[in-house]
Amino acid sequence: MLDLAIRGGTIITAADRFNADIGVKDGRVTMIAADVGEAVEQIDATGLWVMPGGVDGHVHLAQPTGDGTVMADDFESGTRAAAAGGTTTVLPFAQQIKGTSLRACVEDYRKKAEGQCHIDVAFHLIVTDPTPSVLGQELPALVADGYTSFKVFMTYDDLMLDDGQMLEVFDTARREGALVMVHAEGHDAIRFMTKKLEDAGHTEPYWHAHSHSRIAEREATHRAISHAELTDVPIVIVHVSGPEPLEQIKWARARGRKVFAETCPQYIQLVADDLKGLNMDFEGAKYVCSPPPRDEASQEAIWQGLADGSFDIFSSDHAPFRIDGPGGTGKDNPRARTSFKWVPNGIPGVETRLQILFSEGIMKGRISAERFVELTSTNPAKLYGLYPRKGSITIGGDADIVLWNPEATGTIRQENLHHGPDYTPYEGLEVTGIPQQTILRGKTVARNGDVTGPLGAGEIMSRDASGRL
Ligand code: URP
Ligand code: ZN
Ligand code: ZN
Repeated sequence: MLDLAIRGGTIITAADRFNADIGVKDGRVTMIAADVGEAVEQIDATGLWVMPGGVDGHVHLAQPTGDGTVMADDFESGTRAAAAGGTTTVLPFAQQIKGTSLRACVEDYRKKAEGQCHIDVAFHLIVTDPTPSVLGQELPALVADGYTSFKVFMTYDDLMLDDGQMLEVFDTARREGALVMVHAEGHDAIRFMTKKLEDAGHTEPYWHAHSHSRIAEREATHRAISHAELTDVPIVIVHVSGPEPLEQIKWARARGRKVFAETCPQYIQLVADDLKGLNMDFEGAKYVCSPPPRDEASQEAIWQGLADGSFDIFSSDHAPFRIDGPGGTGKDNPRARTSFKWVPNGIPGVETRLQILFSEGIMKGRISAERFVELTSTNPAKLYGLYPRKGSITIGGDADIVLWNPEATGTIRQENLHHGPDYTPYEGLEVTGIPQQTILRGKTVARNGDVTGPLGAGEIMSRDASGRL
């Protein structure tokens, strides 16, 4: 007999929409039929949309910061928030600390995750110190172990690689068949603008949006694409904020390059003016992330790219900080009060990612429900080597399923969220469509905003080759 039958719902995948029941046995989908017969547990999904669980390809959990601030989500709270929001798989980053072994950092990071996850996780790597042994031994071995994608930074003093190092990492990725994720913002252009703004006395959080200019993002995107062409490696330009980098990506694709594109909720829902806060005050720090949100015209360009296929994936880039962290560990710390350049970069979004795109995208007629599934589940699973186990509702795949009530309405409120930060940048946003029930490998882990699953239900997964859509 089946373990679970989900009956009477409308199944929506990246490709299809149809009415059928789903049968689950041992955590996998084993039947999709008009009537799947007897099961130990029954779920009546009449009137609901039955979609694959969300796959969030870009989240930061329990990552070291190096400046005394502390990320507000560990694996427990981060995956709890994700589950409540309809996500069943997240991909956080095991970050190399400069001067240390990447393998050791990955093992430490694994220990933090073990037994602490409400949903499944798989790690990307962040390469900050591409020494000969990292390039020659550690990365090849890690790719062989299923860590098939790594991120590099073109800015941030403690994370960035210079062009020569980027080329070496790209070359290694090509040799090992890995995918490189690029944070594309030009460091020198940011530093130049930062100094000019500070010299003029512009130190409030708002000026972060000017220091991280569109030009710096466009230039770095082009540079990353050029390096990828020289080394013949596929790359993902992550957190694209507007039309300028997107034009570069389209230009590269027209030349036959494999350049994938990611965008995030902040670029459809926030604008640079949000960083002004109430009256150019520190409230603006709530919206400080990099690249920063731009303007309404940029939002329109992002929507266009989401609708026309220019974007491949829609991730949260969840980077959780409290405003008031104990002992100055949050965004509001003494150094951050002296200049925008010290405000921790990043905003929370792992719990609200799906709801925002569902409501603003599907319900406002900007994208189809099938495209929603493609952007938020199927494509990230494919791109990062988890498909068809994840990202689909298919025979043999994991029974990771979200039941959406497309008619229910709500308002995003910090008090209802499960994440570690003490705020949400989307406070007060009215949404249509609620992820009513989140099912991980056939077991309910969240229902009506309550996370019900046992801690440790989530597994740490190894991945197949990345870079195939
Ligand atoms: O501001 C951001 N995006 N912080 C998180 C780290 C990153 O660059 O993705
Ligand atoms: Zn980044
Ligand atoms: Zn990020």
